[in-house]
Amino acid sequence: MAKVAILGFGTVGSGVAEVLQANGPHISEKVHAPVELKYILDVRDFPDSPFADKIIHDFGMIEADPEVDIVVETIGGAKIAREFTERALRAGKSVVTSNKELVAEHGFQLMELARANEVSYLYEASVGGGIPIIRPLKQCLAANEIEAICGILNGTTNYILTRMIRSGLSFQEALKEAQANGYAEADPTADIEGHDACRKICILASLAFGRHIYPSQVPTEGITGVTLADVAYADSCGRKIKLLGRAIRQKDGSLITFVAPHLVDGEDPLAGVEDVFNAITVKGNATGDVMFYGRGAGKLPTASAVVADVMEAARTKGRPKYLDWGPGGEDVTVPPDRLKSAWYVRAEASAEAIRTAFAAPSFLARAGAPAGETAFLTQPMTRERLEQALRSLKPKSVFRVL
Ligand code: HSE
Repeated sequence: MAKVAILGFGTVGSGVAEVLQANGPHISEKVHAPVELKYILDVRDFPDSPFADKIIHDFGMIEADPEVDIVVETIGGAKIAREFTERALRAGKSVVTSNKELVAEHGFQLMELARANEVSYLYEASVGGGIPIIRPLKQCLAANEIEAICGILNGTTNYILTRMIRSGLSFQEALKEAQANGYAEADPTADIEGHDACRKICILASLAFGRHIYPSQVPTEGITGVTLADVAYADSCGRKIKLLGRAIRQKDGSLITFVAPHLVDGEDPLAGVEDVFNAITVKGNATGDVMFYGRGAGKLPTASAVVADVMEAARTKGRPKYLDWGPGGEDVTVPPDRLKSAWYVRAEASAEAIRTAFAAPSFLARAGAPAGETAFLTQPMTRERLEQALRSLKPKSVFRVL
């Protein structure tokens, strides 16, 4: 018998309760023991919910109840969620989370605490919603040296970009739709400024490369600077604008990790990933490219990943399998400036000025471009070289080309 407590009855927490109830017999059969929801902790009351009798307001009850084996943390944020996670682990309970902020900021310490208490700390739902990526990366691809990870890691921004590309919606109109559909974080800044994607690439890169990579070490640019003009220029050269989280192991062993909008070739499978879907390409030195694709946000897809971890924690009680990594440090990453790529630039400058600053630019065209606006793709170069060349121009948008 495994008894479960859910912390936070929001979108994901309520999805977890529903999946545990709807699929109860199937879950218990697979775990070879009943898995029962005992408590739901929230500051609010939910008198009309079918789970009203499980709602409590005092975490101390969960902490002190020896019957509770597994705590599901779906509160979010890195304050109270961190305190309750630490207290649950110290009380000898496994913790399952969808909280990418907490894992990205404090994963190493929490995993150490889980080891010290011989319980699990599992976080499959923290990246890619319902997409299995954490366990495949750690276990199924274990024989590989991972060379690179490149992913569309945020459903809200992918939805916004898709609506801009497909329907010509403005950024603001598309954001409103994403919020109405429940995809965006409570504060959409985390989505549109790239912080959510940053946390997710931190988790993937820490797992793949074995050292904790903190969000503050990852240069991050969101999509607020992407305009319909950029979308049109990208389209004119057969490309789509996508927000990518990337982690690259260079030949000298150094690691580059960053988040930024990119122009992705229409033939690349990532270009076909639309709406709220996420996709992650992992390049292993034995497998080559492996791609993971699915719903990266939403109540039931995310709950599916959480409940699978609950089942894993129940199955491995007393002999947990650790999905952890080593400590961080200032030497873990190097800035992406050294990474060469072609660049897309939209500037207020004449074609002549651009030809003077750049060797062999490839000019782009769009209908309705105002006089004086010029867009082009550069030859592959570092950011340092790009910035030198742009010094005499007035760039409006600058994105890497994948
Ligand atoms: N706001 C997130 C997204 C939710 O849009 O991807 C899932 O992490």
